[in-house]
Amino acid sequence: MTARFEDQVVVVTGAATGIGDATAIRFASEGARVACLDIDPAENGSTAAAAAAYGVDAFALTCDVRSRSDQEAAFKAVIERWGRIDVLVASAGIYTGGPLHQIPTDRWENILAVNLTGLLTSNMLAAPVMIEQGRGAIVNISSMAGKTSWPNSAEYSATKSGVIGITRSAAMELGPSGITVNAVCPGNTLTAMVQKVAIEIGESLGMTGEQWLEMRANDTALKRLASPHEIAGVIAFLASEDARYLTGQAIEVDGGIILS
Ligand SMILES: NC(=O)c1ccc[n+]([C@@H]2O[C@H](COP(=O)([O-])OP(=O)(O)OC[C@H]3O[C@@H](n4cnc5c(N)ncnc54)[C@H](O)[C@@H]3O)[C@@H](O)[C@H]2O)c1
Repeated sequence: MTARFEDQVVVVTGAATGIGDATAIRFASEGARVACLDIDPAENGSTAAAAAAYGVDAFALTCDVRSRSDQEAAFKAVIERWGRIDVLVASAGIYTGGPLHQIPTDRWENILAVNLTGLLTSNMLAAPVMIEQGRGAIVNISSMAGKTSWPNSAEYSATKSGVIGITRSAAMELGPSGITVNAVCPGNTLTAMVQKVAIEIGESLGMTGEQWLEMRANDTALKRLASPHEIAGVIAFLASEDARYLTGQAIEVDGGIILS
């Protein structure tokens, strides 16, 4: 049986760690050629090496998604190497948070630059390539914070709601060219980011990070947090042939937390 993504070209932003890392490796394990884009060269190199271990062509590109010229150079390198882009997964993201009245302007501008402008730029650069091909799939990583919210998270929630807005509009615009655009909204997923969030939010509630994570796990129907591989599996499904009639959606992968 042919692998699902045999010879397809997949670009993953934020590929160095967490969900992006698991996603890059998942696509490689299913036959894709993978370009790993990240600001962290050391960890990103490890992801590309782990992807290449599946016998596919994979490479790492150091890229700060806040920089339009960095992203242009990275996408150009992908086209020069492989001549096409079948799948874009925009996973690069950061979390910052704190009381509403204490959000410093530079912190607000930085999270907008990474989570929103950075993701928009990735979508903008992939779109013309996919339009030319008449086919493609874009998966943008939002969050449950883009659908619901909690205190001290205005800036993060704003960016993740914005990702859903970009996704819906892009789906309408690119659909006629055979391109699907969806968002994934993970619940708490065991990555470096969630450890940082747990310490920050836990402290603000008088808990340790571990206590906060335990509380979040108990809030889900499944009584546990997600592994990055479980998010990567849904991302791969959205990019697969089985999801060709699925577009403009923001899929909750939250272990049933929305029910509680
Ligand atoms: N972990 C969770 O619980 C959770 C929940 C919902 C949504 N998300 C989202 O999933 C995505 C991945 O997060 P994660 O949990 O894997 O965290 P992570 O910190 O492990 O991964 C984020 C990656 O983005 C990269 N990155 C950060 N700033 C960048 C920049 N300016 N340019 C290029 N790369 C940059 C980091 O180096 C890192 O490799 C993020 O968009 C995040 O908001 C995570």
